[in-house]
Amino acid sequence: MGKIEGQAMGDMSRTHNLGELRIEDVGQKVVLMGWVASRRDHGGVIFTDLRDRWGVTQVVFSPQTSAQVHSEAEQIRSEYVMAIEGEVAPRDEGMTNPNLGTGEIEVMALKLVVLNVSKSPPFPIERGGSEVSEEIRLRYRYLDLRRPEMQQNLLLRHKTYQIVRKQLSDQDFIEVETPFLMKSTPEGARDFLVPSRLQQGSFYALPQSPQTYKQLLMVGGYDRYFQIVKCFRDEDLRADRQPEFTQIDIEMAFVDQNRVMGVAEELMRSVFKGSIGVDIPASIERMTYDDAMNRYGVDKPDRRFGLELIDLTDIAGEADFRVFCQAVEGGGVVKAINLPGGSDISRTAIENQLTPFVKTYGAMGLAWMKATESGFESSIAKFFSEEIQERIRERTNAKPGDLLLFLADAAEVVHAGLGALRLKLAADRGLVDESVWDFVWITDFPLLEWSAEEKRWVARHHPFTSPRDQDMDLLSDGDPGAILAKAYDLVINGEEIAGGSIRIHRNDLQQMMFGLLGIDEEEAHAKFGFLLEAFEYGAPPHGGIAFGFDRLVAQLAGERSIREVIAFPKTNQGQSLMDGSPSEVDDKQLGEVGIRLRPRAT
Ligand code: AMO
Ligand code: AMP
Repeated sequence: MGKIEGQAMGDMSRTHNLGELRIEDVGQKVVLMGWVASRRDHGGVIFTDLRDRWGVTQVVFSPQTSAQVHSEAEQIRSEYVMAIEGEVAPRDEGMTNPNLGTGEIEVMALKLVVLNVSKSPPFPIERGGSEVSEEIRLRYRYLDLRRPEMQQNLLLRHKTYQIVRKQLSDQDFIEVETPFLMKSTPEGARDFLVPSRLQQGSFYALPQSPQTYKQLLMVGGYDRYFQIVKCFRDEDLRADRQPEFTQIDIEMAFVDQNRVMGVAEELMRSVFKGSIGVDIPASIERMTYDDAMNRYGVDKPDRRFGLELIDLTDIAGEADFRVFCQAVEGGGVVKAINLPGGSDISRTAIENQLTPFVKTYGAMGLAWMKATESGFESSIAKFFSEEIQERIRERTNAKPGDLLLFLADAAEVVHAGLGALRLKLAADRGLVDESVWDFVWITDFPLLEWSAEEKRWVARHHPFTSPRDQDMDLLSDGDPGAILAKAYDLVINGEEIAGGSIRIHRNDLQQMMFGLLGIDEEEAHAKFGFLLEAFEYGAPPHGGIAFGFDRLVAQLAGERSIREVIAFPKTNQGQSLMDGSPSEVDDKQLGEVGIRLRPRAT
């Protein structure tokens, strides 16, 4: 390679971006700048595609136009940064590209300045970079970001921010920033801590969400608040979870659940229409938590396919099958999924693939029956009388060729196992109708959840969520597990996109709630004294919701992982492969914040 160093732009000044020139511009003198997407040598004429975020323009270096520029162009390579001066010309007949905005023209180069050279990139910067491992993409994220898919995703993300800001401010919401260095607020995950230099031995927590601040803003009279805000949670990461992620955070005063849900629905309507042109239903369907669990086994049902859970507890209890009877006698349930045409799944596949799968959800086994013209075929059919088999067939609507898969256990285990199996079967067999948008509200969540690990009740949403009015009595006496909350989640295509609640706004009720959660007065005061105190100064009734912005944009973009819509995401190990964070810091830095590391356990 000849020695070309980057040159200065000199007095060259860009006249057009690379998606701009059209046939009407033929004859114009232009100055273009961008990256070399490709370079082809055709019989002494060099063609390059020059790329920027607006598009691609073909630049031609021909010895007939300029022998000097042509010879300079021989040295350019992929991803070099160039400036060219040239004249717009129509492409030769048959050489036009209808898929490209600039496809009817090319620019005949008269002057070339290489602004910078580039090493040969570790992967081609082009559509379909999915062939490249995600590790390499994240390691060289700045190159990955040049790919058209990433640019489209980030553009869509940008558009969505603007729609959200416009829609909410048009409706009189105001955007208020809240601190990142704060006192720990529980959202159920672990906090990221920041040591204080000025107050040694003390720590800030990064917000898991601005929950307490937005409630304090309601006390402060800032009715109708919103913020597009980063949240930080130290939890186990997955395709839909990042340690730092973005929320559209909303809070309103003097509202009930329906008002908040109405605002959220309108926001979704604007976002879906404005960003991808999709009309969503005028009113989004609602389903109770109980109903969702019973029918889908999960609180975020994907209803783009069937395979609902069918309750057979009553029938199963009458059969002579020990596994089923024991579950029913123990207060458990027996449920089944009917997989239409599932008889092609072999017994070995059921035993070696599906059974281990449900076992990871705590199930003890997976019973099955294949429906045939002459009744059920199954290793356990003999335990079921003809009459019971007929009732099962009727209840499940099993047709010859269908496969019934049963779980018998405590309801939580059956729901977790069949709920997950339902999703797996739909994915494996391509049953999901990708052309549909499935929106559903889940309401009436339990307020509390028993933590077997901590042996205490924990808040399902967060400890500021209000019980339903009709369940208030259960707070002081009764079964805390039976209390339902004024909480709601918005589920899109089986993914939890938003969650919110009406809050407790009275000091006495909030204290009672802390009591239920096993947080005594002293601890409540140390952790949430500021909130409890604020509630003593005329806190209005209030409630709100927060959308997972990354998840929302991933849905809009049709991406499965939120990493595809985040410029610089972290891996499932919480690492940034590009800059190598988290990383060690030197002793001096640690000393300044009064920290000495313990020897690492090996
Ligand atoms: P919640 O904890 O349900 O509610 O969070 C709201 C929404 O944020 C998204 N989300 C995440 N997205 C990416 N990575 C994560 N680690 C992650 N965790 C959550 C989800 C979720 O629905 N303060 C309350 C809201 C309220 O009550 O108003 C809150 O944060 O899409
Ligand atoms: P076993 O009596 O343990 O040999 O089980 C007979 C069949 O029932 C096997 O197919 C097991 O996978 C299945 N099975 C075992 N436990 C359960 C359960 N809790 N729910 C559903 N099926 C089960």
